[in-house]
Amino acid sequence: MCGIVGYVGKADAAPILLDGLRRLEYRGYDSAGIAVVNHDHVETRKCAGRISGLLKLVADDPTNGTYGISHTRWATHGKPTDQNAHPHFDESGKLALVHNGVIENFQEIKDALLREGEHHFTSETDTEVLAHLVGKIYDDSAVGVADPRRHKALLVEALRSALQQVIGTYGIAMVHADIPDFIVGARRGSPLVLGVGKDENFLASDVSAIVAYTRDAVYLNDFDLVAVERDKFEISSLAGERGEHAISKVEFTAEDIKKGDYPHYMLKEIFEQPGSVRDAMRGRLNLEECTAKLGGLNMTPAQLREVGRIVLTGCGTALHAGMVGEYLIEQLANIPTEVEYASEFRHRNTPMANDTLVFAISQSGETADTLGALRESQRKGFRTLGICNNVASTIARESDGGVYMHAGPEIGVAATKSFTSQVVILTLIGLLLGRMRHLSTAAGSRIIEALESLPDKLEQVLKLSDQIKTIAQKYAESTGVLFFGRQLNFPIALEAALKVKEITYLYSEGHPSAELKHGIIALVRPGLPSIFIAPDDALFSKNLNNIEQVRARKGPIITVTTESGAGKLKEIADDLIVVPEADDVVMPVLSVVPLQLFAYHLAVALGRDVDKPRNLAKSVTVE
Ligand code: AGP
Repeated sequence: MCGIVGYVGKADAAPILLDGLRRLEYRGYDSAGIAVVNHDHVETRKCAGRISGLLKLVADDPTNGTYGISHTRWATHGKPTDQNAHPHFDESGKLALVHNGVIENFQEIKDALLREGEHHFTSETDTEVLAHLVGKIYDDSAVGVADPRRHKALLVEALRSALQQVIGTYGIAMVHADIPDFIVGARRGSPLVLGVGKDENFLASDVSAIVAYTRDAVYLNDFDLVAVERDKFEISSLAGERGEHAISKVEFTAEDIKKGDYPHYMLKEIFEQPGSVRDAMRGRLNLEECTAKLGGLNMTPAQLREVGRIVLTGCGTALHAGMVGEYLIEQLANIPTEVEYASEFRHRNTPMANDTLVFAISQSGETADTLGALRESQRKGFRTLGICNNVASTIARESDGGVYMHAGPEIGVAATKSFTSQVVILTLIGLLLGRMRHLSTAAGSRIIEALESLPDKLEQVLKLSDQIKTIAQKYAESTGVLFFGRQLNFPIALEAALKVKEITYLYSEGHPSAELKHGIIALVRPGLPSIFIAPDDALFSKNLNNIEQVRARKGPIITVTTESGAGKLKEIADDLIVVPEADDVVMPVLSVVPLQLFAYHLAVALGRDVDKPRNLAKSVTVE
């Protein structure tokens, strides 16, 4: 939700700030803006809409300066207009501030400032109120202070004092026209990373914005403030204590976040899945003992054996992965497992036994609701582990242990490769816990074999892309899409429906196949395709019955099935997508990929902006 970039160095700031914004556009694209300090005045350009609009503004009317800040917005307070675009200014017009988050008590602060009679607001945003508050505190404190070095400290103090009055979340970057080569940042609840360069330093919501310039990063913690100059930086806490932070090496390069020859990141990431799935299990299969090795859980075998109940929590796609995990863990380890929407779980008094182990699942590791669920669960004293992709993320850092996905950067707003990695990791967790209980060596060995064969089978599935494109184009005029599946493949129906909703804007739903007759069948009609995930498994014949029910009502039918199921289905289904035979345990990974491709090709056929679907943002750091 919103991306921010700050730069201070010797180079021209604008190209760096704009390049960083392009990398952060996945975080929001309602408006974009930049502020660069040129001698003693702030030059700003901003506009509603995509970063391409801002690039044009800057090209037509360039800014000059070697330090500045920039922002791409996902609107919370105030419509996506030019006026509401960041940066926002204080009353003096000298202080510019960009913000990712929500200032919940902005109205009270605004009313208080308005009562003073000296403040004029030009936007509807909470951020402008914060800029005025910081500016006022700074101006009051700087009166009569001649020493320019003192001004830096006073600006930091002004931000600290303002933030002490604020309720809400923030990642902030700020500059002041009177204080050369100096930017100030702060974070609470919204990510902020400091990039450490040579004679230049950076601030960003995400390292992808700055990895082309430096791979040395300091991940700020909540309540950190940072004063950044060309050749140094100083971190302190909101309470005013000095902080020490380690510099970490970013684990990917600028090359990894390029789209390459793919028209969209989403397609690139779909095609990366044989590799990302392999990376999710790399070094984690114990062939001798037919189990999994997950050292990052930070739990002894004795502690793992004592786990009596599991809660899997997350949002959106991560929640769907958790739903597959529920089936897997119960099936493999016989441990009662619940899946909880993080947004509900964090506010709910869920009865939980003492031997409950909680997993927070999140690609970004920054989702506010999932982080809230993690913290609430830890506050209650439950061991809470993370399943994250972003290694330096808040969830990864705050959890008591966990498993990294190692899927590489996922830029497309619609999650794809992170889902399959999450499912593979949950399979490994089920295998590990199962082998500590009743799961036999033979069963363990069968699961490992199934997992090891996945990358090659995924390669085969990806070869179906052109066929799936033809099918998607055939149904491009549909009014919506229904998805059905059973058992492990029911969450795949939900996930496929989410993909279709997100990037095609068509109405879509996912259901357990057998629920059709309990109401959904009323929707069935020509023009509304039903997609059944129906591998030739133990419930194949039951799926066939459901498919016949749709056929009898003239609903178009597409099936995702296995080679052995295709024979029976080719007479009934309008279109068949045939994936390789595989063990039930890995079928969700094989069956979701054709549906990701279906959603993708359908969106392209409808002319949608696949990587930046309307109203969405990749990382949802607000509640
Ligand atoms: C998936 O396509 C969505 N963009 C969304 O549902 C996402 O999965 C959800 O916001 C959770 O994100 P996270 O994995 O980064 O926590």
